[in-house]
Amino acid sequence: MFIYYELLYENITKFLTICCRTGVQAELVLGTIARKAQETADSHGHYLEDRVSFSEDKLMDTESKAVMMAWEKPLMEAHAKAICARGGHILNIGFGMGLVDTAIQQYNPVSHTIVEAHPEVYDRMLRNGWGEKENVKILFGRWQDLLPQFGCYDGIFFDTYGEYYEDLREFHQHLPKLLRPGGVYSFFNGLCGDNAFFHVVYCNLVSLELENLGYATQLIPLPVKDCLAEDVWAGVRHKYWQLDIYYLPVCQYLDDTE
Ligand SMILES: C[S@@+](CC[C@H](N)C(=O)[O-])C[C@H]1O[C@@H](n2cnc3c(N)ncnc32)[C@H](O)[C@@H]1O
Repeated sequence: MFIYYELLYENITKFLTICCRTGVQAELVLGTIARKAQETADSHGHYLEDRVSFSEDKLMDTESKAVMMAWEKPLMEAHAKAICARGGHILNIGFGMGLVDTAIQQYNPVSHTIVEAHPEVYDRMLRNGWGEKENVKILFGRWQDLLPQFGCYDGIFFDTYGEYYEDLREFHQHLPKLLRPGGVYSFFNGLCGDNAFFHVVYCNLVSLELENLGYATQLIPLPVKDCLAEDVWAGVRHKYWQLDIYYLPVCQYLDDTE
């Protein structure tokens, strides 16, 4: 009986591995097709031109989709801890509710650059005094347009809204210029956060793509079930996260000499 279960378990594991590999391969092929299609379309929709609304526990767009939610606070704190591990110069892309930036400030970095593209989010940052913090530099605009103004950083966090996997991938192409050797890069890993299977596919895909760029990615499991009370999604049109474990990416340059 025991041998039977062991065999069954082994075969299920093999099957899931094959499914996942097939998923990654399919995404690689379909991603190439999507990239081609996107070249002819304007991918950067209307979010940045539309109004947003703030409440205590969320930031919403005009379609009642959540741009950012307070339940992510512990995740943002964990991201901040990871990217501030070496202190120094920190870059964060996407201010949202300022959760990750508030956590970054606790580590007192030498410099803390924040990139934000939405005019109302930017205004709110200024009203809340972010422009007066000594070590903070705010860059207003889309990261894509501000790239020439970026420096070199010890820690980088990326978390935008209204963008696609292609944009994240494009950002990754710039990492070698932006991240100092030994620095830490992380991003909000909400990739297909409403589907366990595709989430695993995307976790594998992004790790593989970062590896091709010379980065090793560790995915640190963080249980999030307790952060998601029943009423968290009240009034939100899309539950962008439905999984019990969040895999926090910690990416570092693969140094062969180490
Ligand atoms: C999910 S929120 C970030 C939440 C943030 N990590 C926090 O802790 O509150 C995404 C933010 O990225 C901004 N954003 C969207 N596209 C952007 C772009 N291309 N460049 C810079 N910021 C962008 C949005 O306006 C929004 O404020």
